[in-house]
Amino acid sequence: MIPFKKNIQNISPYEPGKPIKELQREYGIRNVTKLASNENPLGPSGKAIRAMRRAIRDAHLYPEGSCYYLLNRLAQELKLDSGHIIFGNGSNEIIELLARGFLSEGDEVISSEKTFLVYPILSQVCGAKFRAVPMKDYRYDLQAILEAITPKTKLIFIANPNNPTGTYVTAGEVEDFLAKVPEHVVVCFDEAYVDFVDAEDFPKMLSYIKNEHSNVVVLRTFSKAYGLAGLRIGYCLASKEMVAYLHKIRQPFNVNSIAQAAATAALDDEFFRWRTKWLVLRGKKFFYRRFKKLGLEYLPTQANFILVNVRGDGQEIFQDLLRSGMIVRAMNAYNLPDWIRITIGRRSQNVQLVKLLKASLNRKAV
Ligand SMILES: Cc1ncc(COP(=O)(O)O)c(C=O)c1O
Repeated sequence: MIPFKKNIQNISPYEPGKPIKELQREYGIRNVTKLASNENPLGPSGKAIRAMRRAIRDAHLYPEGSCYYLLNRLAQELKLDSGHIIFGNGSNEIIELLARGFLSEGDEVISSEKTFLVYPILSQVCGAKFRAVPMKDYRYDLQAILEAITPKTKLIFIANPNNPTGTYVTAGEVEDFLAKVPEHVVVCFDEAYVDFVDAEDFPKMLSYIKNEHSNVVVLRTFSKAYGLAGLRIGYCLASKEMVAYLHKIRQPFNVNSIAQAAATAALDDEFFRWRTKWLVLRGKKFFYRRFKKLGLEYLPTQANFILVNVRGDGQEIFQDLLRSGMIVRAMNAYNLPDWIRITIGRRSQNVQLVKLLKASLNRKAV
């Protein structure tokens, strides 16, 4: 008998958005638009592309495990000592480092329902129990999370803004919450979408790091606003003690050399980041107007995606859109069967999405 672990066998694997090439293969369609995985519709920045071309020439060499140049460039950007930063193979890898670093059989992890599905998966891998606290109006309920803490709680994940709802917790809520969380609980604020935020009361988590708040960890990524999802690079901001601890767990060369070069150059491309944010802020207003006109409920978003209630079977609408060459995300795995999640794209993609969605809803109505 192969000794498969029961806690791992019980896991439902993470299902990512459908890749463009897969839809092309399966349906034989050429023109496919993907608004499913919250990627950057502008592609990578020109500066990052040029840096990658240069870095390829050294691909026979192992990367610098310390990510030296990137580390110093990011520390300068954030006005933070470099000892507060550690990079990962996507911010997903940092979630895994936290799980491996803090969880043992029988421990508990708390987060919300309807949040990033990697949290329960990696908690279960480590044999921990994952507790999904109900939301309030599609938002994280921090008070209920506080009440769910037990002596076994080791980690709390807070996606802010949250995926897939696009909602957020405010600076005031976070301050109250952190004042009450016991110090033995590590609180991870996952800010994968922070670059798209326009809410003025959004928390400034960097100040907690600068003030050496020992149990606070902040995750960010180059996958979204920086357009580098395919390279897999993200990072964690935390106390120097925490960063030193996580370095012990990571693989020696966890971030590849091309990703390091691209991310360093992307930090210098301010115009690209500005264009990306502008596209998303304009795109979300476009969707708000169109959904209002169509009488569809949607959740105001702080991220580069929007959740819309398609009144009935989201899976059916998702399938119908696929047949038209449009990939969005069905929400059954998040227990939101009436909703679909749409990544905000370029203007022409957003217009096409609304047109196809309208046609799909009309077909359903007859
Ligand atoms: C909330 C959240 N955290 C983390 C990630 C992972 O990002 P990365 O590409 O950096 O691994 C995602 C990706 O979709 C996400 O939605």
